[in-house]
Amino acid sequence: MRLNNSRILLTGASGGIGQALAHALAKQGACLILHGRNETSLTAQLNTLPHPENHQVWIADLGDFTQLTKQVELLCQQQHIDILINNAGANHFAWLEDQSEQQIIQQLAVNIQAPILLTRALLPYIDRPGIIMNIGSSFGSIGYAGYSVYCASKFALRGFSEALGRELAGSSINVLYFAPRATQTTLNSAAVNAMNAELGTKSDSAEWVADEVIVALNKQIKRRWLGWPERFFVKLNALFPAVVDKALAKQRHIIARHAKAALEKKDSR
Ligand SMILES: NC(=O)c1ccc[n+]([C@@H]2O[C@H](COP(=O)([O-])OP(=O)(O)OC[C@H]3O[C@@H](n4cnc5c(N)ncnc54)[C@H](OP(=O)(O)O)[C@@H]3O)[C@@H](O)[C@H]2O)c1
Repeated sequence: MRLNNSRILLTGASGGIGQALAHALAKQGACLILHGRNETSLTAQLNTLPHPENHQVWIADLGDFTQLTKQVELLCQQQHIDILINNAGANHFAWLEDQSEQQIIQQLAVNIQAPILLTRALLPYIDRPGIIMNIGSSFGSIGYAGYSVYCASKFALRGFSEALGRELAGSSINVLYFAPRATQTTLNSAAVNAMNAELGTKSDSAEWVADEVIVALNKQIKRRWLGWPERFFVKLNALFPAVVDKALAKQRHIIARHAKAALEKKDSR
């Protein structure tokens, strides 16, 4: 599908991957609807894009479901959409017992409930051929200590993408699942960055991830995991989870130390 002139709703456009992706998509000639919560900063961001006149902003709190369907109807009254990218995300790195109800609910709301509700509300307005891309994570396939709620939400997003893709087969709407590994954005707190450094976990720049999203959209790659050895562990975990249990058990004390240190500094987002 050609990105040039296609209308794309990008959620979480104000975030690290979102900003890089907005630039990459605008360079391809796409007309963007940039979603976020802060109108002033999003409008300033819009004005830095190629052809700012082609883009618009859409303000919605994805944690507020009561308004979402109505807001989508208002947005789509004048225009249809070719591509929806469910990119907004939230993460709180902590042991489950240290997460508040609010932190748990927020992650589930933004990472899985909102993409499902947004997709359902937008389906009548997505032109054929169209694309729905859900931004998952390696942690949508590998359960990792300190990320129980985030993993639950991203596993669910992967399941949603697969089932919806099969439901829409033959409808000319393609559902794609795209899973970055650790990426250098503020989604990761100082504690997560310190842990990744100690464990030697590699991370990607948001710009590189954005370029890979463009490739996945252009080629309509149904499922894409970024990074080595993450891609290998995704497969290994699916086939032999006990092997991955053993490998990750060796990291548990390091992860626990960083999660607890974050808690003490109130640094875990
Ligand atoms: N960074 C990583 O290491 C990594 C790895 C794998 C997958 N991912 C996934 O990649 C996607 C983008 O992540 P990122 O690293 O770019 O994160 P980020 O920099 O923290 O940006 C998160 C984006 O989500 C939006 N958002 C959060 N809560 C919201 C809410 N209640 N309502 C509306 N918007 C909300 C934020 O908007 P505001 O500006 O209004 O807060 C922001 O635009 C996420 O789905 C994430 O799970 C990230």
